[in-house]
Amino acid sequence: MKTEVTAAVPVLAVRNLTTAFRGDGVWTTVVKGISFDIGPRETVAIVGESGSGKSVTALSIMGLLPAANSQVRGEILLEGRELLKLREDQMRKVRGNLISMIFQEPMTSLNPVLTLGFQITEALIYHRSLNRAQAEAETLRILERVRIPSARSRLHEYPHRLSGGMRQRVMIAMALACRPKLLIADEPTTALDVTIQAEILELINLLQDEEGMSVAFITHDMGVVAEIADRTVVMLNGHAVEQAPTARLFASPRAPYPRARPAPFPPSVSLMITVATTSVVWISVTLLTAPTDRATLVSFYRLVRPAGRGWEQIRAEAGVAPSPDSIPQMMLAWTTGCVFVYSALFGTGSFVYGHLQTGALWTVLFAVSGVMLFKLMRRMFA
Ligand SMILES: Nc1ncnc2c1ncn2[C@@H]1O[C@H](COP(=O)(O)OP(=O)(O)OP(=O)(O)O)[C@@H](O)[C@H]1O
Ligand SMILES: [Mg+2]
Repeated sequence: MKTEVTAAVPVLAVRNLTTAFRGDGVWTTVVKGISFDIGPRETVAIVGESGSGKSVTALSIMGLLPAANSQVRGEILLEGRELLKLREDQMRKVRGNLISMIFQEPMTSLNPVLTLGFQITEALIYHRSLNRAQAEAETLRILERVRIPSARSRLHEYPHRLSGGMRQRVMIAMALACRPKLLIADEPTTALDVTIQAEILELINLLQDEEGMSVAFITHDMGVVAEIADRTVVMLNGHAVEQAPTARLFASPRAPYPRARPAPFPPSVSLMITVATTSVVWISVTLLTAPTDRATLVSFYRLVRPAGRGWEQIRAEAGVAPSPDSIPQMMLAWTTGCVFVYSALFGTGSFVYGHLQTGALWTVLFAVSGVMLFKLMRRMFA
């Protein structure tokens, strides 16, 4: 993680951003009044579950949503300039000159029928007013910078000839070609294997230091967040539910998302540990709260006994009212009974909330404690 940057004047200030889409004549708001800042040279991660509105936020900032069926409200200030008030031709200059975006799906943003060299060169001629020779030299420099192997020969290739990792690098090259103030990277590494991911993150970091740009980094990957982000904004269902310096967020997360860090144990082991600790805690609580007088225990027995033929039979066999012999016996009956009740409750709860594995384990415990309870009662009261 990089050192914390104290942002003076933010490069980007988003205020109460609200984005809605129209479908079948109905407007649905998907980004619901979010606000955040990105300071100079700062990397801000935007995290959140799928569909929480991260890409829509990015596209709203870029002014790339179709005007016909979308509506963006609030304020987006780039170095104090209000982007939502700009005309499309002004906005086109901002995109590329001041803000660049690496899109979630690289293939959709590279033109398949134009060579890589041509695409980058044209962008440079348009945005940085270079002549063709200068632009071509710069294109080569940039491709080498993002470590495209044998860059010169790649200039004449079409996007489909590149591997996913290379395409992503070309996207980064294009995004950086115009030396933007702000880079918005939407899940730039999700589709890549881990080594290439690490290389690309390093590259963004390096270029950021050299070019002094700010970065908005959208990702699901909390490992990546921990590595690169100075600050993190957590989105949930269109709201920015939390934002804080990344270190602080990891230390004491308030919103649910950052807790999804890799578990220290495999899931099955964590599950066993959870069930074991809860069982121990509940058995201890049970023992500590157990009544010690016979009368209460006997009424407890009446309370927990299942209305079934089994019990009637026991009573019939015994021919007498229940009469346990000793306090330890009664305590054991009490404990088993309580575990029986807890397992039933936890099992049902787990199933209701969709934790099937936990539910299954509690059900096993329920069955086992049920049988134990039955046997104990039979022994004690018969
Ligand atoms: N053009 C559109 N028209 C209508 N609804 C849209 C449009 N684009 C996105 N949405 C809706 O907006 C919501 C947020 O989508 P968005 O793409 O921002 O999610 P996300 O956080 O980027 O998710 P992911 O992590 O899967 O990329 C979703 O419910 C999506 O269906
Ligand atoms: Mg997205």
